[in-house]
Amino acid sequence: MTARLIDGKAIAARIREQLAGEVAEFHQSTQIVPKLAAVLVGADPASQVYVRNKEQACAKIGMASDVHRLPESTTQAELLDLVGQLNADPLVHGILVQLPLPKHIHETTILDSVTPLKDVDCFHPENVGLMVQGRPRFLPCTPHGVQVLLAESGAEVDGAHVVVLGRSEIVGKPVAMMLVQKGETANATVTICHSRTKNLAEIVRSADILIAAIGKAEFVTPDMLKPGVVVIDVGINRVNDRLVGDVQFEGVREIASAITPVPGGVGPMTIAMLLKNTLTAARIAAAN
Ligand code: GUN
Repeated sequence: MTARLIDGKAIAARIREQLAGEVAEFHQSTQIVPKLAAVLVGADPASQVYVRNKEQACAKIGMASDVHRLPESTTQAELLDLVGQLNADPLVHGILVQLPLPKHIHETTILDSVTPLKDVDCFHPENVGLMVQGRPRFLPCTPHGVQVLLAESGAEVDGAHVVVLGRSEIVGKPVAMMLVQKGETANATVTICHSRTKNLAEIVRSADILIAAIGKAEFVTPDMLKPGVVVIDVGINRVNDRLVGDVQFEGVREIASAITPVPGGVGPMTIAMLLKNTLTAARIAAAN
């Protein structure tokens, strides 16, 4: 069996097209142009590409965006001050502080300083709490992208055993919470595996759906998988100038029933969900 490809690029394009229509309608009825403010500190090459992609994606669907590019030497106080200004700016609806931040800046302090109503990454504890309780204000971008890919792939999530590889705050933990909830493309039995998990290979082999988000290039090999598994690869690893996922794609596609490619799988979905959250934030602002 060769797995079906889950085409994140095409699915994200369709979502962006739909959002463009919603942005135009929203503008017509409120005169408001939804605006994202992105903050990039330092010169991390990958972060520069991600932020540029986000900026271009906003423009393409009729949203405004500002990118605040700050030097590596920016102090925590200066960054807090900028976030405070963006929190107070009525023309800014969504705020995104690109991670990672330089080592001398305490990440949690900065992320907690973003007002929850503009927290389009869904990193603020208030928004994480609302999401975990099943009454989300925003959904976290990459986990939501994964969920939509599962829905589009036709995979049966209800009652399935989903194994999540990785327990990060950005992907592993929130995606597990979303898929275990009551709801559509949810109701799964979820196991989270991480670096301290015993019998990891055995657990992974029992997965109906595998979500790989550990940041280790080609960690998941075909011998670890049950035939017919649906594989969502969240990894983006650079190996000799080549981008590879956390899954050994060529081998695994021969055993899985469906798989996301890297690039062109989860990546474009993250940006589409960020745009969706920015529109949600603008709607919240308009209603207040
Ligand atoms: N760096 C890597 N992924 C992300 C993300 O989803 N949001 C932000 N703000 N930074 C990131």
